[in-house]
Amino acid sequence: MKIVTIIGARPQFVKASVISKALRVAGHTEILVNTGQHYDDNMARIFFEEMGIPKPDYDLGVGSGSHASQTASSLVGIEKILLKEKPDYIIVFGDTNATVAGALAAAKLHIKIAHIEAGLRSYNRDMPEEINRVVTDVLSDLLFVPTQVAQDNLNREGITGGVHIVGDVMVDALITYTKVAEQNSHILDELKLEKEKFLLMTIHRPSNADHDDRLLSILKAVSKIDLPVIFPVHPRSRARVEKLISQTNGKIRIIDPVGYLDMMLLEKYSHTIITDSGGIQKEAYLHKTPCLTVRGETEWVETVRDGWNYIVGNDLEKISILSHDFPEPSEWKPHYGDGNASQKIVHILEENLT
Ligand code: UD1
Ligand code: UDP
Repeated sequence: MKIVTIIGARPQFVKASVISKALRVAGHTEILVNTGQHYDDNMARIFFEEMGIPKPDYDLGVGSGSHASQTASSLVGIEKILLKEKPDYIIVFGDTNATVAGALAAAKLHIKIAHIEAGLRSYNRDMPEEINRVVTDVLSDLLFVPTQVAQDNLNREGITGGVHIVGDVMVDALITYTKVAEQNSHILDELKLEKEKFLLMTIHRPSNADHDDRLLSILKAVSKIDLPVIFPVHPRSRARVEKLISQTNGKIRIIDPVGYLDMMLLEKYSHTIITDSGGIQKEAYLHKTPCLTVRGETEWVETVRDGWNYIVGNDLEKISILSHDFPEPSEWKPHYGDGNASQKIVHILEENLT
């Protein structure tokens, strides 16, 4: 098989790390296309190095910009590559602007689309990702969903063909690289942290990160926690965080974004995680670390149902209360699979090749 795989943003580097390996081990030809949406060393290069992601065959260098400009540049670039490479499938991951651009370019050229992490829904169209997901799922031929909930979401929208429950490729990555991290990462020593005696926070969603009032309220609420809080700051919010942090009590430790290996240890040994990230909520569950989600809803409903994830919404006082006293979770189940999602996906791609 010949596959064009589209990546561009940090979460896609993580997902591609395991899929690229599985495709290549099975002897298939993968053409890796990086739209270049994320480009700082610690948002991009470090993931390629630490996770052994192959060097992209094409780098579109779209960089930062409005949704329209990022999506449009990616669309034009991907179309040219698809016309030249004529793959059997295009693979797109998740819900970024690279995802929707890849799906749209391929659909018009009648190239089969495989969407990995299909069927996720927040039912909040204020999130650009929700729009990207809905459009991508409508256009996709093979929809690789992590859970039954995701399949049900698709079925409710009338999408029933080509849907396969395979688990989540992020479990594959987490299992593989947490082992590597335990050997190679020294982040706890470097930051002088004791296991379970610190918190990890990440905030990058526009609804939190793009407004002074909201971001300051979050920072102040987190500052009430009695343990050290480590905050690897996404470049989107760097300037705003630096401007506002002086109005808090100085307890939050701001650091640059970290690589995946360091992130695995910070997540695993954090007392509690405070985040608005999609992937990090799921990783918190996988590491069995309680999570406080600073959003009004989540796609990863299983984590909330089992009592590992609390949706904070606007009730920011809950952050310090629950950080100190998180209720005992009711259960933990392998909702997101057993770490073999990538192999399952490659087999299904092979079986569906016509
Ligand atoms: C994107 C994804 C989001 C995902 C997030 C993961 C879309 C619509 N959004 O959001 O789903 O959760 O990535 O991290 O695709 N910047 C840099 N250097 C970089 C990258 C970004 O300085 O390497 C800054 C730029 O000022 C840029 C801003 O961050 O304008 C936002 O970046 P962008 O890629 O547009 O969106 P994200 O918030 O990263
Ligand atoms: N991540 C990382 N370093 C960081 C922040 C995030 O390695 O400083 C990883 C995180 O563990 C996850 C991935 O990047 O696997 C994507 O997370 P992000 O919050 O950027 O995106 P989302 O999942 O919200 O789309």
